[in-house]
Amino acid sequence: MSPISRNLTRLTLVSLLVAAPLVPTPALAKFAPNATAGELVDSTAWTRADPKMDRFVANLMAKMTLDEKIGQLTLLTSNWESTGPTMRDSYKEDIRKGRVGAIFNAYTAKYTTELQRLAVEETRLKIPLLFGYDVIHGHRTIFPISLGEAASWDLQAIEKAARISALEASAEGIHWTFAPMVDIARDPRWGRISEGSGEDVYLGSLIAKARVRGYQGSDLSRPDTILATAKHFAAYGAAQAGRDYHTVDISERTLRDVYLPPFKAAVDAGAATFMTSFNEVDGVPASGSRYLLTDVLRHKWGFKGFVVTDYTSINEMVPHGYSADLKQAGEQAINAGVDMDMQGAVYMENLAKSVADGKVDVARIDAAVKAILEMKYRLGLFDDPYRYADEAREKATLYKPEFLEAARDVARRSMVLLKNKDNTLPLAASAKSIAVIGPLGNSKEDMIGSWAAGGDRRTRPVTVLEGLQARAPKGVSVAYTKGAGYNFDDAGKAEGFAEALALAEKSDVIIAAMGEHWNMTGEAASRTSLDLPGNQQALLEELKKVGKPIVLVLMSGRPNSIGWAEENVDAILHAWYPGTQGGHAIADVLFGDYNPSGKLPVTFPRNVGQVPIHYDMKNTGRPIELGAPGAKYVSRYLNTPNSPLYPFGYGLSYTSFTYSPVTLSKASIRPGEPLTATVTVTNSGKRDGEEVVQLYVRDLVGSVTRPVKELKGFQKVMLRKGEKRTLRFTLTDADLAFTRQDMSWGSEPGKYKLWIGPSSAEGSETEFELTQ
Ligand code: BGC
Repeated sequence: MSPISRNLTRLTLVSLLVAAPLVPTPALAKFAPNATAGELVDSTAWTRADPKMDRFVANLMAKMTLDEKIGQLTLLTSNWESTGPTMRDSYKEDIRKGRVGAIFNAYTAKYTTELQRLAVEETRLKIPLLFGYDVIHGHRTIFPISLGEAASWDLQAIEKAARISALEASAEGIHWTFAPMVDIARDPRWGRISEGSGEDVYLGSLIAKARVRGYQGSDLSRPDTILATAKHFAAYGAAQAGRDYHTVDISERTLRDVYLPPFKAAVDAGAATFMTSFNEVDGVPASGSRYLLTDVLRHKWGFKGFVVTDYTSINEMVPHGYSADLKQAGEQAINAGVDMDMQGAVYMENLAKSVADGKVDVARIDAAVKAILEMKYRLGLFDDPYRYADEAREKATLYKPEFLEAARDVARRSMVLLKNKDNTLPLAASAKSIAVIGPLGNSKEDMIGSWAAGGDRRTRPVTVLEGLQARAPKGVSVAYTKGAGYNFDDAGKAEGFAEALALAEKSDVIIAAMGEHWNMTGEAASRTSLDLPGNQQALLEELKKVGKPIVLVLMSGRPNSIGWAEENVDAILHAWYPGTQGGHAIADVLFGDYNPSGKLPVTFPRNVGQVPIHYDMKNTGRPIELGAPGAKYVSRYLNTPNSPLYPFGYGLSYTSFTYSPVTLSKASIRPGEPLTATVTVTNSGKRDGEEVVQLYVRDLVGSVTRPVKELKGFQKVMLRKGEKRTLRFTLTDADLAFTRQDMSWGSEPGKYKLWIGPSSAEGSETEFELTQ
């Protein structure tokens, strides 16, 4: 086993111990047909040997022509929708001719049946199609965007959201989701930060596993489980300047320590497929990287599924300047380890010639075909190609009331209370008139965010206004006006201000529902500013002059720079894009029916100039603390503090928690020996509530410099008011491993600091030593 995989296996075992959430989520438990909570789902079960399958696939492959084999390596979009520039209108003809093995962007029992029939009834070998789709945060019932779900730090809730997504998607003929997106993202300019789990390696790895378990369950042959895809392999989140599809240039050490571990976690959880990324890694486009796709993924990590490209990313190796033409690009991709070509038709058009030229070995094509046919077999498609397409099941499954209830529960768990001056929230009983003001206050389309799969944007989502109106006690009025626009060209337009100010004047409290249009995050949605777009900021400043309490309900898919709001409004709730039931979930939190428990999975900068900023930065030789306040020759800005607006792991509650000093089972440990850190957390406030108790360490001296803090464990606990709980975290040296100076993976002896606290910026500190 490689040093990388050895350590991650051990890390995984320990992480299961330290991170298991203690709060059961009863509202969700009953929706898991696998009847399991968390770790009991063995999503790796499909990786076991199956001699019957081996014989079946070998027999089938013996009958296949080279063209039929290449057909299995081709994935095309239907004409329903597209996420990229190239469309092939002839996809139905391609299916009939056996030139395509998989289709994406097609769902419903009816449509997938129609397409499947072309493959099963009209091709020579009758090999069923595989249907893929971007089911990212729900299929029809939409959950909060992935970054929002991550803010719940609730692995059970996240797993259940994926499970429900699989139940709905599979009922509509879908076999395969292009999720989870496990890219670490540390640059909020990059719109795709919304699709992942944020900046942290440890949290991101656990969430990657939870999502794989949710989609795949323990048994791929059940028609209600679907294949997961770990994407985008690799380092897509490190796009320079946060511009989507841009160059990535990071060190091998950063690649191994930061960007790869969530992918390794996905392999460990049994992710059936991997998707390559658009970017280059050290000068080689990911779809042509033998290092990533074969050396690391297959050889070091032992991945047994298949690798698909991202949308036309083989073709893009030509403009990258890595391939002279499409034929060469196809050769580089297949030889690097890409099994399936998404939408580019490069394999379809060129691979047979490359075999004839001797540039590609048939054995390599066979390996790719085998991996894909095995997946079709494991899904049971050779027994019944239509088993996922059942109109009765579809009707009975979509939008089940319990799914909607789960979406509401996950949404409120994902919300982060950023400010709450003088307990502005929950809303006081004395607030008899509520003004909802802002472009996101009554906007259905925005509630479900980007990548909302089959989600209905027009009628189903519950808006903030609707949620508050439904919940407001008798005698409390809730009125709405938009007030301001959020599009870039709304800047400077103040037509709606007068009406907004008039409404504010006659109301007891203002709910400012502001943020970004849903289309401003996700793919191809990078920004050079993190400010509230349009004229929202100007409206907020005008509203402040009215003198009524202001609650900012922020909806967006990235950290925004809301420094003015932090100083000037009374309360701030980050609601992300909360999904189909978002308005109800927001009302639950604002009225205090749910006590917020989310914590930021990503650092919020004060302004875009601080980017990249993340909690696990290095210290530098001239840390700011070395100088007197305002000293010049230290690592600082002249005009902005180094600290963020809100740190990673931060989030308030309507109650308060106090932490005892941390005690350790030993002052020093040897390799392999466990260290137990103990802390007592007390709910010292007036309400029941949940707290995410976080454990961080710092390796003080290393053979290479080490981050100032690294998350190594957390537990989300429910404490009744006045209740105390003693929590234990167990670590071994495996949790302290990193890529050492000689590029080997392991820990190093020396002194470490350890904190347990409510965020990455606070906590009770202690020290221990790791000896030889
Ligand atoms: C995105 C992928 C997505 C694919 C298929 C691409 O543009 O980068 O994340 O899975 O399209 O829709």
